[in-house]
Amino acid sequence: MSENKVIAGLQQAVSNCKRCDLWKTRNNSVLGEGNPNAKILFVGEAPGFNEDRQGKPFVGKAGAIFNQLLDSVGLKRQNIYITNVLKCRPPKNRNPFPNEIKACSLYINSQIETIKPEKICCLGNFSTSFIMKKFGLQDKLAGISKIHGTTFNVSTLTGTIKIIPLYHPAVATYDPGMLEPLKKDFSILTET
Ligand code: URA
Ligand code: SF4
Repeated sequence: MSENKVIAGLQQAVSNCKRCDLWKTRNNSVLGEGNPNAKILFVGEAPGFNEDRQGKPFVGKAGAIFNQLLDSVGLKRQNIYITNVLKCRPPKNRNPFPNEIKACSLYINSQIETIKPEKICCLGNFSTSFIMKKFGLQDKLAGISKIHGTTFNVSTLTGTIKIIPLYHPAVATYDPGMLEPLKKDFSILTET
């Protein structure tokens, strides 16, 4: 099956999904967006207010910062794929619950299998923890302020994947001083 067909099937599945209670409060599920053949996959935490309204990832304030960061390294949203660990918004943007992450994991696992990215950039602590555990890197896991900007290589059946934890772009919405460290982290994406 082509990548586009799998993604369309996943879109349908998350739109109807009731695997955790977040379906009760969502307006729209947010599967992800971008090129299903992208070499770089970005993984955020969960949709926020604007994402839930529009059914698209990173379209609010954090999205504006994300676009600025992509731009700073010459990447375009059409050439990458961006998604979140959770596909539905937690009420009032509270942190995801472990049972919600578990219930939703089949979707991100399927996205990773389909897109087969060379690099997975984890935005923030939740995404970093999920992806590092998934790829057997739990021993190297630490808080994002310690491991941001580090590249971890993992061998998979389909080749080597670089796992790169980054600060979540939202940090720069409440602390503009974080924009520089974020830019520095993003600069390694096109170098490594
Ligand atoms: N924060 C996220 O983690 N994901 C979004 O899609 C928007 C904000
Ligand atoms: Fe389903 Fe994930 Fe939405 Fe929960 S967050 S209802 S598991 S798509």
